[in-house]
Amino acid sequence: MMLSTTLSSMVIASVLMLSVWNTPRVDVQRSISVQAVVAAVTAKDSTPLYTEEQATTGAAVFGKICAECHEKKDVTSADFRAKWTGRPLWDLYELVRTTMPDSNPGSLSRDEYAATLAYILKLNGIPAGPAAVMPDTTAMKAVKLDLPPPG
Ligand code: HEC
Repeated sequence: MMLSTTLSSMVIASVLMLSVWNTPRVDVQRSISVQAVVAAVTAKDSTPLYTEEQATTGAAVFGKICAECHEKKDVTSADFRAKWTGRPLWDLYELVRTTMPDSNPGSLSRDEYAATLAYILKLNGIPAGPAAVMPDTTAMKAVKLDLPPPG
């Protein structure tokens, strides 16, 4: 009697400790980093969505692969900007990653897709920064694109 009561309270105690120990810590950390990104975006300072190095790689990928079917204006036109403004960066990344190149979807690495996206952002006047949001999934989901018309 004594022994089994002690055992079951030990089990309950360790289950409680596990749930306290595991779940909230991860969530707290994640929401902090997402909030930091969102705050940076709404503050309108130059949010480091990509690095200059990514954009350079992306220009090469675009020239070699995407340019077979696309002109730059396909990803800079007023229609394109209007369509994507206000939507998460993740949506555009996932569309490109899962459907492009049209002839062989998913054939590039995540880093190559991120780099190509970096180049597209650069073409749309979004500045490079010292660190990159891409290809971090959580961060990309938190960033809303803002592609205002040029000029
Ligand atoms: C073999 C031809 C082909 C290649 C190569 C190709 N695309 Fe496409 N792409 C298309 C077609 C066709 C569409 C239109 C699809 C539709 O509207 O259903 C499209 C649509 C898109 C769109 C959506 C445009 C919009 O208005 O929202 C983006 C972004 C895009 N492509 C990016 C890329 C990138 C980046 C690459 C290179 C990694 C690439 N594509 C390679 C044929 C291609």
